[in-house]
Amino acid sequence: MTMTEPVIELSGVHRRFADGPAALRDVSMSVRAGEAVAILGPSGSGKSTMLNMIAGLDRPDSGTVTVAGVRVDTLGEAGAARYRRDKVGMIFQFFNLLDDLTVLDNVVLPAEMTGVGRAEARRRATGLLDVLGIARHARAYPGRLSGGERQRVAVARALMNRPPLLLADEPTGALDSESGAEVEALLRELHADGQSIVVVTHDESLAARCATRVVRIVDGRIASDTGVADAATPDGAGAVAR
Ligand SMILES: Nc1ncnc2c1ncn2[C@@H]1O[C@H](COP(=O)(O)OP(=O)(O)OP(=O)(O)O)[C@@H](O)[C@H]1O
Ligand SMILES: [Mg+2]
Repeated sequence: MTMTEPVIELSGVHRRFADGPAALRDVSMSVRAGEAVAILGPSGSGKSTMLNMIAGLDRPDSGTVTVAGVRVDTLGEAGAARYRRDKVGMIFQFFNLLDDLTVLDNVVLPAEMTGVGRAEARRRATGLLDVLGIARHARAYPGRLSGGERQRVAVARALMNRPPLLLADEPTGALDSESGAEVEALLRELHADGQSIVVVTHDESLAARCATRVVRIVDGRIASDTGVADAATPDGAGAVAR
């Protein structure tokens, strides 16, 4: 990928599920490397559908999806799995951690799937947990952690393979306001470190605090796409080592 190539390019993306109206209608959007984009819109407007296209979890009926130089919409199952492993980190509303693995083992997992050696994977995971302020929970099971701590573990796991793109779907949706603010601060730091981020949310204030650009979706269409002045300027710029 060159500097000028967008990290995400959606072109004419259409998706209709069998039992309803189109969930995405002719969506075209381009995201440059290093942008932090918030996708905002009412429930059912197509936000998660769009994120799933970018993540290679679903395919458009027509249109193309290109991420970090990969034509995601034409990948088969194995190709899509490899793409997700190498190119995207994902964070979800309900963390999606494995409860019978320790925090450290949850974070190590994506690296082990790429063939990174166990010692190197543990070293990298320990470093991430440290930077994210949860190193003391490395040997605990996720069930013992607070919501905000669990989401930090999910962020560490998402960053483990150093993906060019971080995707988040309502990452603060299940959190109280204090934990939500921690996760927002983390997203700002990552953006300041140059991480490309797309975050789906209902939350206007999260978008205002974390994004440099806000894309609004209504009924499966992009209704507006605007830059956010002076947003995402963190206090602790550069704090998250990659
Ligand atoms: N797998 C599916 N099968 C059938 N319909 C689906 C499927 N996934 C999404 N839809 C429909 O597509 C539309 C868009 O759903 P989507 O999940 O993208 O909305 P959303 O904007 O993420 O909403 P929310 O804010 O509630 O998470 C909805 O009408 C939904 O019911
Ligand atoms: Mg959704």
